[in-house]
Amino acid sequence: MTYPDIDDALHARLRDLCAAGWEFFERFDRTVRERGFHAFIASEYEVVLDALIAHRAPGQRFLELGSASGVITIMADLLGYEACGIEIDFSLVNTARELATRFDSKARFVAGSFFPAGYAYRAADGEVRTGTLGEGASGYLELGRALDDFDVVFGYPWGGEEPVLLDLMKRYGSPDALLLMHGVNDGVQAYRGGKRLPARS
Ligand SMILES: C[S@@+](CC[C@H](N)C(=O)[O-])C[C@H]1O[C@@H](n2cnc3c(N)ncnc32)[C@H](O)[C@@H]1O
Repeated sequence: MTYPDIDDALHARLRDLCAAGWEFFERFDRTVRERGFHAFIASEYEVVLDALIAHRAPGQRFLELGSASGVITIMADLLGYEACGIEIDFSLVNTARELATRFDSKARFVAGSFFPAGYAYRAADGEVRTGTLGEGASGYLELGRALDDFDVVFGYPWGGEEPVLLDLMKRYGSPDALLLMHGVNDGVQAYRGGKRLPARS
């Protein structure tokens, strides 16, 4: 795909970043996921790239919930967002930092949970399970920012976990923030104030 407002050099960096991300994920899939369950599944990088380009505006703060190997957060940084990621798996945070260095990116990564301290999920029907979403010390303190400091928040939850991210944004996110949520089968959907926005043509 070509993007009229992205120059050739940036285009090439983004393409190389996606390729490096897929290379890492294929290795991770063969080595780590082959041996046992791990919650990291890579999103469709090129589809997320389209969404980040469509929604970008100068000076926006971006947070990735569960940033894994860091590809999406680095992509956001290269596109001009002030970009951070929180990831619960320490070894993936190291991978993300190495990838950021390799791509000369200022993206920041912290190890911890993207749930603020004290957050507990409870759906209207009493459901409290959060599926594959892990528990651990909250990452916001180290980040030096709260969830409601971010203009654009991205997450790729497993199927059925979408209500948890919507609840999290409703209770702790900025009311004006855009939530970009990657679905298992339906690309990236945009939400604001808990409402799904119409698809952009
Ligand atoms: C489905 S993967 C998506 C990875 C990445 N965002 C992407 O789109 O390619 C979900 C990631 O969230 C991480 N994760 C799960 N629960 C978390 C939590 N409470 N806080 C931070 N990261 C979490 C997992 O370790 C995993 O890397």
